[in-house]
Amino acid sequence: MTVKIAIIGGTGVYDPEILTDIREEIIATPYGPVKAVIGNYREREIAFMARHGTDHSTPPHLVNYRGNIAALKELEVKNILATAAVGSLNPDMVPGQFVFVDQFLDYTKGRPSTFVEKGVVHLDMTDPYCSRLRGLLTDTARRLALESHGTGVYVCTEGPRFETAAEVRVFRQLGGDLVGMTSVPEVVLAREAEICYAAIAMVTNFAAGISPNKLTHQEVVDVMAQNAANLRQLIMQAVSELDPDEDCPCRHALGEGPLGG
Ligand code: HPA
Repeated sequence: MTVKIAIIGGTGVYDPEILTDIREEIIATPYGPVKAVIGNYREREIAFMARHGTDHSTPPHLVNYRGNIAALKELEVKNILATAAVGSLNPDMVPGQFVFVDQFLDYTKGRPSTFVEKGVVHLDMTDPYCSRLRGLLTDTARRLALESHGTGVYVCTEGPRFETAAEVRVFRQLGGDLVGMTSVPEVVLAREAEICYAAIAMVTNFAAGISPNKLTHQEVVDVMAQNAANLRQLIMQAVSELDPDEDCPCRHALGEGPLGG
């Protein structure tokens, strides 16, 4: 059995408690060793990776994104469901709701954000997130009566600080719905690796200047904790319905170019 599905757990999602027969693997990659937990769920092998480490010790700008995606590629993973805590810029997207992100705006600054180190490789990024996985998550959430949005524009900031009120105003004007610190470059690298990738964003707060309170990491963690059971239910139901081998344009993202073929 190969591992065709991976879950990348963001803030508040550190442990794959639903999996059985768990084993830990250290996967060697050109970007250093990466730890993943592999276990079974309904006769499927699933890899789980805690993006910030199991003790949340790695801040968003220092996550080894390339290592993590390279390790999942090494395991031959074909589908990634990634969770992400986000602030909302959109009055219709309220804390506790899920958003299945379909677009991003990249405001990161200093992160290694590509596997490409030579040659002319300009990857199409019109639709960065897998629409097949997004559709599955939207249907699953509806059936489970979980409040969700099937599209949303994720503004990725460098962090680790939260945004200023002025930044949030600009992001809203630019068409952003959500703000977070991790989806880029994770989704870009998954696309370069030709792995289907969906982001399950969980709104934990209204963004700076919209929220009446000063933002704290504790608020984010508390809202994630309140909704942990819903998130787990959503992921596990989606995983059990997913056809991991279904062909998808994401699997051919590189075409016949220097990295693909
Ligand atoms: N800004 C950036 N990242 C976040 C936020 C936010 O308001 N909430 C959760 N992650």
